[in-house]
Formats: sequence, structure tokens, C-alpha cells
Amino acid sequence: MAASAAPDRPIGVFDSGMGGLTVLAALQAQLPFEPFIYLGDTARLPYGTKTAQSVVRYCLQAADALIDRGVKALVIACNTASAVALPALRERHAPLPVIGVVEPGAAAAIAASRNGRIAVIGTEATVRGGAYQRAIATLQPTAKVSARACQVFVALAEEGWSEGAVAQAAAQAYLAPLFAPEPAAPDTLVLGCTHFPLLYNVIRAVVGDAARIVDSAATTAAATHSMLRAQGLLRPRLEGALPAPLSLLVTDGVARFASIGGRFLGRPITPAEIELIDL
Ligand code: DGL
Repeated sequence: MAASAAPDRPIGVFDSGMGGLTVLAALQAQLPFEPFIYLGDTARLPYGTKTAQSVVRYCLQAADALIDRGVKALVIACNTASAVALPALRERHAPLPVIGVVEPGAAAAIAASRNGRIAVIGTEATVRGGAYQRAIATLQPTAKVSARACQVFVALAEEGWSEGAVAQAAAQAYLAPLFAPEPAAPDTLVLGCTHFPLLYNVIRAVVGDAARIVDSAATTAAATHSMLRAQGLLRPRLEGALPAPLSLLVTDGVARFASIGGRFLGRPITPAEIELIDL
């Protein structure tokens, strides 16, 4: 089915699972009148350890499911999916607007950094694919980017172990080497994964108070807002129309998504709010 361009159509938000709810929360905060359909591909989570080929295939299937539901734009909340599959999604679904988290995150990092040294952390697939490194280099060719996969952070966030000794030890092991080389240490860290904002406190403790920490959720929401306005797709502000509708779709594990997802969305989720679908 062709995507509708009508402003009152929903925005599709796609993630590999529940991590993208951090991006959904930022989108809802900045765009309170917009209806959203969120799809978490929990049956195939995690994407971060998969090959690029598989991630692209999964993303194309998920995008088809959202487009069949008439979305007016797609936000790819998953960093791994954005890093690996954005060109394929844009090519297949043009002129539908497709927004990823990598470009807004890279722009925010450049705006934040004073010394042009930027560290990026993400999943294995995000770091290996080099999308953040390329996006930063395109915007500021003189920037020096170091990147590290912090795969264990994903499991810690889902386990609810965002604080405490295990999380502290993981943060120390991953981040201390990245921030060690004085006087050339990065002054900015990009949280290039949906799950990492949950570990903000332990990350901050290792990188120190002076480092700037960039989380692409808020900047992606701002980029989505600008794009909708530019294309005449913003839903009009309607008196009494709040809260705008939200549909939550998952491909597996409704109960687990409900119990863990609340931490990412910032409010409790009940299983009754979630629809199980097959891709
Ligand atoms: N959503 C993924 C990301 O932001 C993390 C979880 C996964 O590996 O699927 O990269």
C-alpha cells in the first residue's frame, strides 16, 4: 500500500526491541499531537550482533509492516538499524521521509565538542559499519573520532543492572581506555545505542564531569519535528486531542516487552497495550 501523506496519519517508529522506546519518549515529548505506531522486532533482537545483510533484511520487512498501516514518516530509532539500513530504506520507500538517529547524533556531537575529539560507543554492528564515523567526518572532516563497541551495556540495561558494581566495572573496562590519552582525550561521547542512556550515571562516573555526553534521542525528535514542518506533515494542534494515540507492536514476548519496556519509555506499559504481529 502506498504511504499516505495526510498530516493526521501516524508516524512509524521502528526498533529492534524495546530500546527505541527512549527515542519514542523524546518524540512524544516534542510532538505531543502526533499519533505513533511503534514496532519492536523482539523476535529477532538483538540486531547489534547480526551481520549487516540480516539487519537490512529485517528492517525492510519491518518498514513494510509499518507502511501497510499507513504511516506518513518512518523514524528508525535503533542505532544499529540506522547505521546499517538507512540507505536501503530510503531508496525503497522514497519519497516517504525516513529519519535515522545517526545523522542527528553526529550533528549534536559536533555542536557539543570544543576540541574536535569525539568518542562514539554503540553495538558491534554500529561500530563495525562506521556510520557514525562517516557522518561526523562528512560534517567536520578535521574531527578525530574514536569508537568502541560496548555490547555488554545492552544486556545490563535490559537486566535492570544500570547501576551498581557490575555496570560500574563494565563502564570502566570499556570507557577508561577511550578517555585515557591525555592531552588528546575526547571531550564528547556519543551514546550510539538506544540502551545506553539508561547507564548514564555509570558512564558519567568514568568519563568525568567535563565530558559532554550526547544522546541522539532528543536531537532525532527535533530533526523529525523540522522535517514534518518542512514537508507540511505536522498534525494540527487540536484542543482536547491529547493524549494522541499510541500503538505498540512487537514480534515476540508481549509480557517481557511490557515489564522491561517501562524503564525505557519512562512510564509503566501494560500487556493489554501491546499487539503481537508477525513480519
Ligand atoms: N537498538 C539497538 C541499537 O540501538 C540495541 C539493541 C540491539 O542490538 O538490537 O543499536
